[in-house]
Amino acid sequence: MHNKNNITEKIYWVGTNDRRTHIFENYWPLPKGVAYNSYVIVDEKVAIVDTVEKGTMDEYLDNIEEVLDGRKADYLIVNHMEPDHSGSIRSLVERYPEMKIVGNKKTFPMLERYYGVKDNLMEVREGDSIDLGEHKLNFYMVPMLHWPETMVTFESNNGILFSGDAFGAFGTLDGGIFDDELDLDYLEEEISRYYSNIVGKYGRPTQNALKKLGGLEIKMICATHGPIWRTHIADIVAKYDKWSQYKTDEGCVIVYSSMYGNTEKMADNIARHLVKKGIKKIRIHDSSKTHPSYIINDIFRYRGVILGSCAYNGDVFPTMETLINELEHMGVKDHVLGVFGSKSWGGGGLKRLNKFAENIKWETIEVTPEALCAPGQEDFDQCEALADGMAKRLKELYS
Ligand code: FEO
Repeated sequence: MHNKNNITEKIYWVGTNDRRTHIFENYWPLPKGVAYNSYVIVDEKVAIVDTVEKGTMDEYLDNIEEVLDGRKADYLIVNHMEPDHSGSIRSLVERYPEMKIVGNKKTFPMLERYYGVKDNLMEVREGDSIDLGEHKLNFYMVPMLHWPETMVTFESNNGILFSGDAFGAFGTLDGGIFDDELDLDYLEEEISRYYSNIVGKYGRPTQNALKKLGGLEIKMICATHGPIWRTHIADIVAKYDKWSQYKTDEGCVIVYSSMYGNTEKMADNIARHLVKKGIKKIRIHDSSKTHPSYIINDIFRYRGVILGSCAYNGDVFPTMETLINELEHMGVKDHVLGVFGSKSWGGGGLKRLNKFAENIKWETIEVTPEALCAPGQEDFDQCEALADGMAKRLKELYS
């Protein structure tokens, strides 16, 4: 960093942009990279809020030194222990051995097990605060947003919420750090994909946090990833509120697994009938080509979900298994589901999809076409019936 990045006169962004890592948590694609945000508050006492993933640590430590200009850090606030934010703690402790590490009772066992750090700990509880001078840090517990130890820090004199993963986004901070300095249209999918992929399992904890923080006079939200929100605070809070209640729009996501094109033909046929019945927002994905990250993101947007699989060794196709396993694991709620498939002899794809329907407990469309080898007219008729059932239900829900 060759310019200090002030977010107020005495608070600085000292985070890093990671354009080298291809997959986040070794699973989720990062086509536009990711930023690890950390902040330094320079007052009578100096506080650092969260750290960065260890791969970008050298740059990070330089950023801090430049801001501190010879001063030492007094506090490190650990809002969240996932290693993309805690990865530089040990190096910071070596550099500032007097620094107090501020966390809660669930933070410290993780800190010791991950990094062997167990000294200079300062435990805070819900509602506790630390005065730095002109800045006052207040702590609120937000368990499971995104881990059990997670808390947020509210700087009450300037109205700045250091929100951890909440309100975060994939995508690097290209040139700007604030929402009004960045191209939010370019980042839109990375914002929603971050929610659906990383936070999406924790809808209820997100709702609890929104209620708890709703009374604060927030003028700026500093998350651990993505833009600093100062102009579009109401928008991002409204999005989190909608997403964490699993509210979706009229539309249908069709995902198919197909080896030789027969199940794909059925998917296309279903899509055509949906459009004829007035459902315009259709997203078709081939489960072998599109990473579940993007499919799950579309499922968080649209109420209708139709899944089709060929049989594979007497079971569902492997890439469909990955997707439905992920959806079950995340416990995504409130969708209307249709399933279909194909088989050449004993089947298995549709059977597993029906099991998925039972497990996930979404409302279902009764018609479940399963073609033998290649779909014939009777199968296409069933596909039309499935599409009709889905379109009718979506129209009931959204008209
Ligand atoms: Fe960005 Fe849950 O860590």
